[in-house]
Parts: sequence; C-alpha cells; structure tokens
Amino acid sequence: MCGIICYCGHKQVVPILIEGLKRLEYRGYDSAGFAVVDNKEAGAGPQSMNGGETNSPQLKNLRKKTRISPDSGKKNKIVKTQGRVGRLEKKKIGLEIDATFGIAHTRWATHGKPSEINAHPQGDCSGKIAVVHNGIIENYQELKKELQEKGHKFKSDTDTEVIPHLIEEYFDGDLEVAVLKAVERLHGTFGIAVIHADVEHQIIIVKRGSPIIIGVGKDEYYAASDSNALAPFTNRMIYLSDDEMAVLNTSGYYIKNLRNELLEKQIEILDADEYRVDKKGFEHYMLKEIFEQPESVKNAFRGRLIENEGVSKLGGLEPVIDRLKNIKKLIIVSCGTSYYAGLLGRYIFENLTELDVETALASEFRYRRLKLDENVAVLAISQSGETADTLAAVKEAKRKGALLLGIVNSVGTGIAQITDAGVYNHAGPEIGVASTKIYTSQLVIQTLIALMIGRYQHISFIEGSEIINAITKLPEQIEEILANSKEIEEIALKYSRYRDFLYIGRLYNYPTAMEGALKLKEISYIHAEGYPAGEMKHGPISLIDEDFPTVAIAPDDLALDKMISNMQEIKARNGKILSITNVTAHKVLDISDDVIYVPGTLPILQPILNIVPLQLFAYYIANERGCDIDKPRNLAKSVTVE
Ligand code: M6R
Repeated sequence: MCGIICYCGHKQVVPILIEGLKRLEYRGYDSAGFAVVDNKEAGAGPQSMNGGETNSPQLKNLRKKTRISPDSGKKNKIVKTQGRVGRLEKKKIGLEIDATFGIAHTRWATHGKPSEINAHPQGDCSGKIAVVHNGIIENYQELKKELQEKGHKFKSDTDTEVIPHLIEEYFDGDLEVAVLKAVERLHGTFGIAVIHADVEHQIIIVKRGSPIIIGVGKDEYYAASDSNALAPFTNRMIYLSDDEMAVLNTSGYYIKNLRNELLEKQIEILDADEYRVDKKGFEHYMLKEIFEQPESVKNAFRGRLIENEGVSKLGGLEPVIDRLKNIKKLIIVSCGTSYYAGLLGRYIFENLTELDVETALASEFRYRRLKLDENVAVLAISQSGETADTLAAVKEAKRKGALLLGIVNSVGTGIAQITDAGVYNHAGPEIGVASTKIYTSQLVIQTLIALMIGRYQHISFIEGSEIINAITKLPEQIEEILANSKEIEEIALKYSRYRDFLYIGRLYNYPTAMEGALKLKEISYIHAEGYPAGEMKHGPISLIDEDFPTVAIAPDDLALDKMISNMQEIKARNGKILSITNVTAHKVLDISDDVIYVPGTLPILQPILNIVPLQLFAYYIANERGCDIDKPRNLAKSVTVE
C-alpha cells in the first residue's frame, strides 16, 4: 500500500524516480509525487563538517556524517499530482530539473482524500525537509496539535505531514539526530524517507512495520518499498528490519538501529529473472498472470517431490521439522485471496494429516483469546509478505510461543523474516491487484506441506504417490483450460450485463466459490456473493430470480449429489446457472444454462483447476465493461495498514 522509491548517486534522479514509481504503482495509485534538490536552485550550498567515520568492514568507502550550516538558501523542489504516475511524468516536462538525489511516492489514501495537497512528499514550514511515508501514524492528531501550538503551519489532511514538521522542530544541523528524535515520538507503522535541501546527497530511511529495501549500486544507492521497483537498477538488496535506519549518500551507506548503533547487514543477490516485470504482449498483467499458472504451479512443486518415497520435501521447513512432527494444532492465518487459500488449506490438512486445523482471518485473530503454545503451529499465507493484518497476527502468535510458518511469494519481506520457517512460492512478481497465480501456487504448497506431515502420520506410500502423480499433471491440465479461453470469453460476454451473481460450492469448492466471487467483484465492481451451497436455503435463495445468475462449482466429488439438489432449487426459482464441472453426465448438463468443463483430478486438487475458468470469467467480464483491471478502484496490491 503506497510505494516509495529513492535514489542517491550521480545520474539524473527524476527519470529513475518515475521509472521506479511506475513499477510501484500497483501498490497504490490515487496520487504521486517526488522531491529533489535542484542543482540550479539559488543558494550557497551546504558546508560539510566531518562527523565520525565508521569502522565497520561493511562500510568500505565511507562515510562522513554531513553536518551543515543552518541555511544554504536552497529549498526542495516538490512536484505532485492527483491521479496516476503518468500525470506526474507529464507534469515534470518543461521543469528542466537538474538533480541527482530525491525521494518519490505513489499513494493509496488513508488519511485525507486523494488530492495534490495530500499527495506525498509532505514538507515542513521551511520548504527544506521533505518526507515520503508508507503506513499510519496513530498519534498524529496530538502531535499536530502540539506542533501547531509551536507555530507550525499544516497544509494537508494527512497523518504524514507531522513527520517533516517534527524533524524541523528537532533539527539543529544534524539531520540524523533530528530524524531519530522525531521517530521516537511516532506511534504506528512506517517506512519513511527524508531529505533536507541543505544536506546534499543524503537520504535517511527508517522502517517500522512497513517494508523498505535498500538497493546497492556502484556509487549509487536506492531505497524502495519493494524489490520489484529496484530490479531494473540493481540486484543487490538489503532488507531492513523494524526499527532500523539507513543513511544513504553518494559515497556509501550505513545502517543503524534506533539506539544509534551501527549494524552490519548482509547484501542479498536477487535472481533477476524472478523480478522481470512486463506484460509479455498481454493486454493486462492479470491476464498474463492467469496464463502463467502452468509455470507458477510447476515452480511451486519443482524440486519438492520425492517420487520414489511418495513424499514431499520442503527445504525451508527442514530447520523446524522435529517441532513440526510434534504439533497437534495448525491455525492458518491470512487475508483476502490468501484467506480463501487457507480455507481450502483446512480441508487439505484435515484430509492428509491428523492435525486439528483452523483457518482464521488475520484481521480478527488478535481479538481472540486463543491458547497458543509450542504444540500449535500458525501458518501465515501472504503473497506480498507485508499485509499488516497478517503480520500483526503472526506477531501475536509469536508472543504466545507458537511455531510460526509462512507461505510467502515476495522474498525477504516482513512475514518471511518473522516466521521460524517457511516456503516461498517462487511464482515471480504478481502485479495485477487481483491475485491469481499466487492462489493456485498457495494451494499446491499447502498440499505439499500437508503431504510431508501426513507421511509421518497415516498417509501411506500409495496415497502419497497418487497425490504426487496428480500434482505433476496439474500444469498440463491448466494448459488445457487456458486453451479454451475463447469459449470462456464467449460465455463471460453473455453474462457481462448482470448486476448480481451468486457463487456456490460445497466441500473443497466452497472456498472456490468465495474466491471466484471475490475475483468478479474486485475487478468488475459487480456484486457477487460466494456461499457454501448448503447455506443458500438459509437465506440467500431469496435473492434468486431470472436476473440473479448463479455460478455453481460442481465437480465429481462426495458432495456432487447435494450440489445438484441445490442447483435444482435455483432452477425452480428461474435462476440461470453457469456450472464449472468435470462431470459430463446429464445430471449437471440438464440443469445448467451454460457449462465450462475442466479436466478431472483428485478431489482435493480439483479447486486448483476449477478456479482458472473463474479467473478468466471475471477478467473477460471486467474487460467488456471497460474496467481498469490491473488497478481496480479503491484497492491496492499490498495492504500495509490495519
Ligand atoms: O499479499 P497478501 O496475500 O497477504 O494479500 C492479501 C489480500 O490483500 C489479497 O489477497 C487481496 O484480497 C487481493 N486483492 C485479492 O485478489
């Protein structure tokens, strides 16, 4: 939620900031802006005074702490716009900025509506301090009042604006000290980047709760809220942890904790291929990502199956394997699509293991009086690895001593850092706000974890081998569905003018119904309710008439006959039915107005195939309605606020 990109080096900064913002725009896109110090600005320029040079071996080239005389006469140049980065790019044309360091931001509004004034960077009274911020400052109202009483003038409705004013209040020539003092006063979560017009070539970054990554180039340094934004510039990254501060300048960087102690952090080398972001000729990222599923599903199980032992092997869980063998209860916590993956995960783990399994919405988890101890494992599922609700749930579970596991796609992010052990999806970046390829990948990985645990329990070699065999066929079965996309598009167009939909499923496909409905509503803005089919008669059936179609997920499993009864109840009320099924028998065909066939697999894996046509169905309807599919209104890709 919100994106930050910063650069400090010898190149012109504005094109770098714009390029970074474009890559971050999926995180938030209601306004954007940047702040730089223009070399053409009148002013005496800063005077450096050497501070303590560090002796850390990590900090070879460096590092003079820059102190300055109080006023060089320079001010920041801040350029902002409401709306997309494209508008910002147009706005800077003709400004002829000559600057080699700066900070930039793309926003998803929390405090204050989307507008140019509320866009970041936010500044102080002097026009010298500029700040970009991800997260929320919970005590901003009291800080604002205090600062106003001291004479500070505020322009925006944002919580962020208190930060530059606080820094201004504490600034007496040493920006680092002022930032440290200001941060001490902040409650909430933040990833911030700060510049001061008199402190040339210095950017100060602080992280608490919201992710910030440092990119290390050759005599140039970057910071961004995710590695996707840095991928075109460098593959050398440092993941900051909470309560750490990085100071970047052209001769190097150093990292400290908030007690002002220097830290040594490892530089991680990213696999450039994993971070390659382009649409590869598809009209939208979402469509590209749907079509990437044969590959992302394969990546989820590649190298993780031991066929001759009928078992899976997950390197990321090896360090905790002995603890894992002894746990009695598993709680899966997640949000949105990842929650629906967890909902299905419950059925998968119940089926393949002897664990007592529960699925919990991360946003509700911390309100419960749960008994968590060393016999309980909490599995957090998150594409971004930075969803604030999921992170908060994991922290709660950590406090209570549970074993913390993660399934995360974005490498090195908060959830990946805090968990005891975990499994990466290795699905590459997912840019479309609607999650698609990660959902199917999350289902595969949960099956692998369940199989691994189950093989220590009651699952036999034969059963294990059957599951492995079925998993390895999934990529080509998904290809088969994708090859049918024209037909799915034609069906979608028939349904594109309805205003309401019901999605129903039972057993393993109750989560499929929930996820299918979420896909439709989030990108097409059509009202869609996902429901367990058996619950329909307890209320929602009152909605059904000829203008309220139902999508019925009705594969060949233990629940099929009951599903057919529910579908008949809909038909009896003139409801239209679109079925997703692997059943060619007339019992499904006869009560369906339209049918999308999918290949058959084991019932626990069938949802991995069933969701693919539902993703396409939602996509084609949204496209037909002219919706902004990759950036649906009011949404953002990573939700870093609670
Ligand atoms: O990054 P996460 O998997 O933790 O994100 C969770 C949800 O915010 C996310 O799945 C959201 O619901 C998607 N927009 C669904 O398509």
